Amino acid sequence: MIFAGTPNAPLLGVNIDHVATLRNARGGRFPDPVTAAQLAVEAGADIITFHLREDRRHIRDDDVARLKAAVQVPLNFEAAVTEEMLGLIEQVRPEHVCLVPERRQEVTTEGGLDVAGQFDRVKDACARLAAAGCRVSLFIGADPVQIEASARAGAPCIELHTGAYANAWWDQDSALMASELQRLQDGLRLGRAAGLQTNAGHGLAVWDHPAPHPFASSTAAVAALPEVAELHIGHALIGHALFVGLRQAIADFKAEAVRARNPRR
Ligand code: PXP
Repeated sequence: MIFAGTPNAPLLGVNIDHVATLRNARGGRFPDPVTAAQLAVEAGADIITFHLREDRRHIRDDDVARLKAAVQVPLNFEAAVTEEMLGLIEQVRPEHVCLVPERRQEVTTEGGLDVAGQFDRVKDACARLAAAGCRVSLFIGADPVQIEASARAGAPCIELHTGAYANAWWDQDSALMASELQRLQDGLRLGRAAGLQTNAGHGLAVWDHPAPHPFASSTAAVAALPEVAELHIGHALIGHALFVGLRQAIADFKAEAVRARNPRR
């Protein structure tokens, strides 16, 4: 299998869900996540990621159709493993699909998918989506049991949940940062050894650290791991864009990833 990304930097998947969150706050058409996706591609996004939730709290069905028509880079459709979502994905046929766990009460995707605990269901979904021409990724924690189950389920990719590491970064908890980063690295290596493409995402930010630290940000620390083929980033990138604009925000996240892989640049 040919892995995505380059040795110099992982590919950047820009998640545009929270442009839709802002739009939906007023119920109108502005700001339009599809316009944001087009601008993101112009600014260097390699992949456009979105999560169509069961409750349609941000991205909506008509956004998905418009994204499919307007976006020239691969679309990464994040969805729960439900009959409704599998049917929609089969109609839309995005290049990539990332299967995620979903709970209505959660503010964001809190944990990884329990692939081992619902193995047959996930395996069937992987086969169905592969038949629809989609590259399937499973969003899981860096847990050897889940990584091994993902490989057996027939998914060519996993995305490791970086939320615990990103939270430790915000809390400046050095011990937790070190242990979470190690857990991620071990998981990435295990995934690669099992023949999987290994991606990462959730909660990653670009944020100046008040004290000296080997990495400039949570994004830099994860991007520096050579096994990371793609990073999928949403909330903090759209938040950063409020201050510097979407074009500059994408440039900042990309530069952070390149610098992390090439420390002398
Ligand atoms: N990857 C996956 C699978 C996700 O579900 C999400 C959140 O939708 C992200 C990455 C991006 O997380 P964040 O918005 O915290 O950057």
